[in-house]
Amino acid sequence: MNQKTAVISGASHGLGLAIAQELARLGSHVVMIARRVEPLESAAASIHGAGGAATALPCDVADATQAQALAAQIGAQFGAVDALVNNAGIPAPRSFAETDFADWDAVIGTNLSGVFYLTRALWNSLCRAQHAYVINISGTAGLRGGGSPAYGAAKFGLTGLNHAIAQAGAPQGIRSTILYPGGMDTGWRGAPIGVQPRSESMDPRAVASLIAQLLASPAEFVVNEAVLNPLHHPFM
Ligand SMILES: NC(=O)c1ccc[n+]([C@@H]2O[C@H](COP(=O)([O-])OP(=O)(O)OC[C@H]3O[C@@H](n4cnc5c(N)ncnc54)[C@H](OP(=O)(O)O)[C@@H]3O)[C@@H](O)[C@H]2O)c1
Repeated sequence: MNQKTAVISGASHGLGLAIAQELARLGSHVVMIARRVEPLESAAASIHGAGGAATALPCDVADATQAQALAAQIGAQFGAVDALVNNAGIPAPRSFAETDFADWDAVIGTNLSGVFYLTRALWNSLCRAQHAYVINISGTAGLRGGGSPAYGAAKFGLTGLNHAIAQAGAPQGIRSTILYPGGMDTGWRGAPIGVQPRSESMDPRAVASLIAQLLASPAEFVVNEAVLNPLHHPFM
């Protein structure tokens, strides 16, 4: 990933920030996306402080107009995009009864439509790269169903979208992988960070390192999907 351009959504915190830090450490110019400007800029500053190259571009990926404007800016500034990590995601109410229409729209908007908007808007820039790669971050909720209707539906939908991206991308040399991680130590749903053992809640930096290895894998094959779980929760 040295000298490559990598676009990461949800890059101001958690897994997205860990991915941005890891790819920048490996020499990529990381384009960091999130909605809130202040945390995004301080995340980019942390990468600059470590000697990395980062550009912070605020955007709500659930807003198609913003996604299109962002992609135009990235295309003009960088030309080709070598890697796109669709990581931005929000949690949802856990039960059917608690989920109102606004919750549904917000979660489907960010966790599913946002992936389509950003990938579609950046498609020409991905096609311009040699061997571009799209990584879609799902979760084990994308495999087991039940629980939160909006979150599960968005993540299940992402599986179909990942397949469509892989199919459309193959003739262009673009690969696409969907990852289904279990619990990560990112403070998701207000969980305290750094309290649980790594075998209970995965270190996002370890997951980011795996993503970097996928991006560096030989371009003639593709890892379609991967399920990652903490050691003590081996299944979903
Ligand atoms: N943590 C877990 O245990 C876990 C498990 C399985 C799967 N996942 C998945 O992993 C991904 C990352 O999770 P995480 O725990 O790292 O989340 P996180 O720490 O809450 O960070 C989420 C990031 O996404 C950004 N974001 C949210 N909505 C956005 C939008 N509409 N447009 C642009 N950026 C947006 C947030 O910044 P702003 O709020 O400023 O926009 C933030 O940078 C998500 O897709 C999640 O579903 C997480």
